[in-house]
Amino acid sequence: MPRILFADNDFPDIAIEREICERAGVELVVAQCRTEDDVIRAADGACGILLQYAPIGRKVASSLPGLGIVSRIGAGFDTVDTAACAEHGIWVANSPDYGVGEVATHALAMALALVRNIVAWNRDVAEGRWHYTSAGPVRRASNLTLGIVGLGRIGKRMAHVSRNVFRHVVACDPYIIDGDFPAYVERATLEDLFARSDVVSLHVPLNDETRRMIGARQFAAMQPGSYLVNTARGAVVDVDAAADARDRGTLAGLALDVLPVEPVPAQSRLLHHPRAILTPHSAFYSVESEKELRRKAATNLVTWIRTGRPDYVVTAGTRRP
Ligand code: NAI
Repeated sequence: MPRILFADNDFPDIAIEREICERAGVELVVAQCRTEDDVIRAADGACGILLQYAPIGRKVASSLPGLGIVSRIGAGFDTVDTAACAEHGIWVANSPDYGVGEVATHALAMALALVRNIVAWNRDVAEGRWHYTSAGPVRRASNLTLGIVGLGRIGKRMAHVSRNVFRHVVACDPYIIDGDFPAYVERATLEDLFARSDVVSLHVPLNDETRRMIGARQFAAMQPGSYLVNTARGAVVDVDAAADARDRGTLAGLALDVLPVEPVPAQSRLLHHPRAILTPHSAFYSVESEKELRRKAATNLVTWIRTGRPDYVVTAGTRRP
């Protein structure tokens, strides 16, 4: 019977994964791996690994000759060294399209919460202040420009759901052609986008090029009183530079669903600040999207066992079931 390691998860139960494996005649071994050594130990005899956040680096790829595939429960795959996996013939799969609407609406909700002062007003009311100016001035959203960095699946949906809220939508994505820009989205360079946008929303994957791509230089180009929303990956932003920009007033507020270190460290400058909205990496979440995400990620493994190829390929491998 083929064996799959469920390397880590923070789900209340794993009935979805168990059912998919049982139906396919696959043994599911469950662990909570935090390090590559944990993964190597737990993956003994496994031909596939299903994972949430467990690290799959070069050490894992080179230590497990029987490993044919890793499937990430999520769209991002920055915890997986795809180059090392490819070198060893290991397939990398993910679940890219389960929560596009959830992340885009979460980003828009965050943008509007900032622009409309929702969180600051809510706190003021709770503390006994009841006045429409208590949280500072509010600008008319339909006069503002939204800038989207990364116009892929989620970025495009963000543009779509935001187009009637803001006056202009501009986007920076050097990897897609003009024809893939919707007619209502204007192309901009990163510098231009930061200079023009009142609200910037990030939707790039985390990789060597995008790590800390948003920092002091971009914030210096922004107009005072702008907003930043990040639902992509925490390490895309230099959060210290973002906190400095907020203290200077360049950023009137920022909303982050993702942080370089998760959960948020207790000493973070971003905690408890009335102009910083934090959510716990939950942009992907709805009851429906969570089920779809988990079903698709687990099905990648049983499809590979059946056919030699997963449903959603990040990087192709050569190893056979
Ligand atoms: P995608 O691959 O469809 O789109 C990413 C876009 O970014 C692509 O069009 C690509 O050309 C562009 N891009 C890459 N490098 C760039 C750069 N240097 N400058 C500008 N654009 C660049 O990915 P999708 O599905 O839209 O997801 C984006 C990211 O959102 C994921 O990689 C993941 O990290 C994050 N995510 C976060 C979730 C959450 O719960 N907070 C849930 C799902 C995804």
